[in-house]
Amino acid sequence: MTKKELLYEGKAKKLFSHKEKDKLIQYFKDDATAFNKKKHDVMENKGILNNLISEHIFTHLRNNGIENHFIKRINEREQLVRKLEIIPIEVIIRNIAAGTLSKRLGIEEGKELPGPLIEFTLKNDNLDDPIISEEHIRVFEWASVNEIKEIKNQSIKVNKALIGLFINVGIILVDFKIEFGRLITENGNKIILADEISPDSCRLWDKKSLKKLDKDRFRRNLGGLIDAYKEVATRLGIDIKNN
Ligand code: C5P
Repeated sequence: MTKKELLYEGKAKKLFSHKEKDKLIQYFKDDATAFNKKKHDVMENKGILNNLISEHIFTHLRNNGIENHFIKRINEREQLVRKLEIIPIEVIIRNIAAGTLSKRLGIEEGKELPGPLIEFTLKNDNLDDPIISEEHIRVFEWASVNEIKEIKNQSIKVNKALIGLFINVGIILVDFKIEFGRLITENGNKIILADEISPDSCRLWDKKSLKKLDKDRFRRNLGGLIDAYKEVATRLGIDIKNN
């Protein structure tokens, strides 16, 4: 068996090679970071919960016709994913004003937006992931015009599917971040949803109490992050005891 090689280490995940060249192993760490690592802590079992929640969400998306990189969960911290050429852009989809949108534009947190708002940031820690426009993406050739169109189309579909998934269990999807990659094939490239979707990358509020069930509990020193992630998993019907 080929030994797996660490290819990339991010703030909350590691990526390893796999014996099959077109696949990778995505490993979920317990590290919690915010404000581009200015705040850091380790939350025991966060990686295990995010692995389960992300598996559930990517499976739901695939069952709803949204292709993605997830193949299967291997164990409590690892999943097998398709190897893609990652597009160096973070796509943020917002349904309700919060976080940096509220700060940047002075919009009251909690204000419902008339429709989903898509924002792009450049994946660059040294620059603190600056917000960019479609024009920047085109001019600097981070993605083509057609790819940007495809990314926006898929983002709207993901948003619709996730709003439904969460509202069914009494959770409001405020906003979230996703990433895409290119699957290089003989018949051309294909844009595919990648990375993870978990309470680390979404804002999730309880519908009744508006209690935060996501990483804002860490960013804002509210405490109870692991209990909130467990609550999300349990409501989604994930068996966290036997996994
Ligand atoms: O901080 P901000 O309001 O821009 O975040 C919008 C959404 O994107 C939040 O759900 C946040 O968790 C997510 N996000 C992320 N990774 C980043 C930036 C934002 O998952 N680097």
